[in-house]
Order: sequence, then C-alpha cells, then structure tokens
Amino acid sequence: MTRVVPIDPQHPDLGRIREVAEVLRDGGLVAFPTETVYGLGAHALNPTAVARIFQAKGRPSTDPMIVHLASVDQLDVVAQVVPTAARELAAAFWPGALTLILEKRSIVPDAVTAGLQTVGVRVPSHPIAHALLAAADVPVAAPSANRFSHPSPTCAEHVLADLDGAVDVVIDGGATPIGVESTILDLTVTPPLVRRPGGVSLEHIRHVVPGARSVSETVGRARAQPAPGQLLRHYAPRATLTLYVGDVRQVVERMGSDIRTAAASGLRAGVLAPEEDLLALAPRLAALGASGRVITVRCGSRRDREETARDLFRALRALDAEAVDAIFASAPEGEGINAAILDRLTRAAEGRVVRT
Ligand code: TXA
Ligand code: MG
Repeated sequence: MTRVVPIDPQHPDLGRIREVAEVLRDGGLVAFPTETVYGLGAHALNPTAVARIFQAKGRPSTDPMIVHLASVDQLDVVAQVVPTAARELAAAFWPGALTLILEKRSIVPDAVTAGLQTVGVRVPSHPIAHALLAAADVPVAAPSANRFSHPSPTCAEHVLADLDGAVDVVIDGGATPIGVESTILDLTVTPPLVRRPGGVSLEHIRHVVPGARSVSETVGRARAQPAPGQLLRHYAPRATLTLYVGDVRQVVERMGSDIRTAAASGLRAGVLAPEEDLLALAPRLAALGASGRVITVRCGSRRDREETARDLFRALRALDAEAVDAIFASAPEGEGINAAILDRLTRAAEGRVVRT
C-alpha cells in the first residue's frame, strides 16, 4: 500500500518528515519533491532497498542513479576523489539543480551506479527534499519517480499515476518549481562535459569552469556519449511526436499544414506549444475545419521559457491522457533552460525534428 503524506513546502512539518525519513532508513521507497522533478528515493548504501527502485520503475539495471545528499559535507562519504572544480561548483550551485559525476567510493553499491566506477551526486534545494535528507541522515539514491520511459513527474498525482502500490510513501509537496531534471556535469573527463542539459545552464557553469563543454559541442561523439540511459527513448509520450524549431510564423506554417494532413487521414492530433504559437495556429486550424479534432495544450510562452519548462512534462502527460495519435510540438533554441527543453523534446521526437 502507498501512503500519501501531504507536506507544505513553505513550512515542512518536521514530525511528518521524521516519520517518512524513518521509512527511508528502514529500506523503504519514498517519492519526494525536489526543485526539478519528483524523485523516487531509497537508502543509497542498502543494495536491497536500491533494487526495489528498479522493480518499482521497470527500469533497466544499466541506468545509473543520482545520489542525493543533505549537504556538501557528505560528499566524501560517496566520492573517492573530490577535485577543486567540484568544490567550486558545489559552492556556486548547491543546493540546486546540478549533478556532478565523480569517482565513487566502494561503499556505494554497484546497483546504484550500474557497475560504473563513477557516481552522480547532488544536493537538492527543495525545502522538503532537504529536510527529508537531513532527517534520514543517509545518502539517498533517487531517479525520477516515473515508470521507465514515461515523462518525469512534476507533481504527486503524476507519481501516483505511475507508481501507486509500488512505493511505500509519496510526499505530496505540490508542483516542482523548475520542471525539468538537473544538469549532469561529468568531472571525471577532460574537459568537463555536460551529459544532460537541465536546471543549471552551461553558461553559468562556465563562469566557474570555463572549459566545460556540452555533449552536442564535442566532435568526438564516440568518446563523448551522453549519460547512460540518455541514449534511450527517454521522455516518451505514447503518440508519435514531431518537433518544430524556428520563429513563430514559419513554425506555425509548417505545423498547420502537417496537422491538416494528419487530421485528414483520420488521426487524432495533439499540439503542444507556447501561447504565441497556439494563438497564431488557432485561425488556421479553424479554417482547415480541423479545430474540433485537434487537442491543444499550452506550454508556457515564448516570453517565459521558465514557464515552458515547468509545464512541459504535465503537457506531455495531458496529451497521453487524451490518447492522441500524433503530437506536434514547438521548442525554443538557445541557451539556459531552452537547451533543456529542446533536449527533452528532441528525445521524445526520436529524430523527427523540423527546423524552419
Ligand atoms: O533532477 C534530477 O536529476 C532528478 C531528481 C530526482 O534529482 N533525477 C533524475 O534521475 O533525473 P534519473 O535517474 O531520471 O536520471 C539520472 C540520469 C541517469 O539516467 C543517468 O543517465 C545519469 O543520470 N547518471 C547517473 N549516474 C551517472 C554516472 N555515474 N555516470 C553517468 N551518468 C550518470
Ligand atoms: Mg528519469
């Protein structure tokens, strides 16, 4: 049975936090909010507890997990070598949405790192995550709290839709403020490599580590693989997703005609786009006589991409729930949070990307 424990993120009830922390210490599974997405946590130094995560998620054991700490002081518990860059990055971005890949200590079970000699570590800033980790006083392994290949959960309802009955406790702390996962920076390679863009931008990381690169910038792609597990179709809606990148007018032009083609062939179409794109698209869909058969979901606005990031996984789940056959989505280009949004939608599109 899964117990749902509501906790106010503004004023976390420490009595409840302590109770849930006890479940973690005893080897139980606890889903909890972080500033990025909800995590599915287990005692990271207890292999039996960690094995339950794979089972609950239906996750392949080749995909390593991030270890979450209450504070940077615990870094030496899990990391064998802590380079100066790691200390500087921790000082600049922790607590926060940055995961550092470091050489692991042998105390970290192979199940956590999928047999790798490295470990991903982060100190989350969300008040509930922080209070829980501090009360548990153990490192907590936590992938995103979704069934494998489903979009990451940004609220407790998403977690329950995927994992009800499979986990011991779900903390309901409301919607997560960032909405996309942490940035993964590998410090075990030279130059340091962003293996997954996320809540902390490469541009900000470069203020501390000027040589840092992203996987997409590196030419030696064979040596510069993205993070394990990132190769898979990771943020997968059930429908086929086509992604459009470019300025509003051209995106809307191409999307409009592709939606017409889909609707004419009897497909149920879903549109996931920022407010401006939907506004420009509306008269076209009406003129095509397609508006009734097309489901649109607003995903932030071109003016506020932080909002797009917050809405992204909710929007993908909403279209899944509508059982559409084809999704037409538009994504931003550029730096900062835009890189994370583009990365997630590109994966969901599995290569179907139209650049206008
Ligand atoms: O924001 C986040 O990072 C969320 C919250 C819960 O912290 N967690 C998250 O975990 O997104 P997950 O498991 O869904 O994605 C973590 C990814 C893995 O798929 C893997 O690719 C990468 O992190 N990773 C973990 N440990 C690694 C390691 N030692 N080397 C390379 N990549 C690693
Ligand atoms: Mg995940």
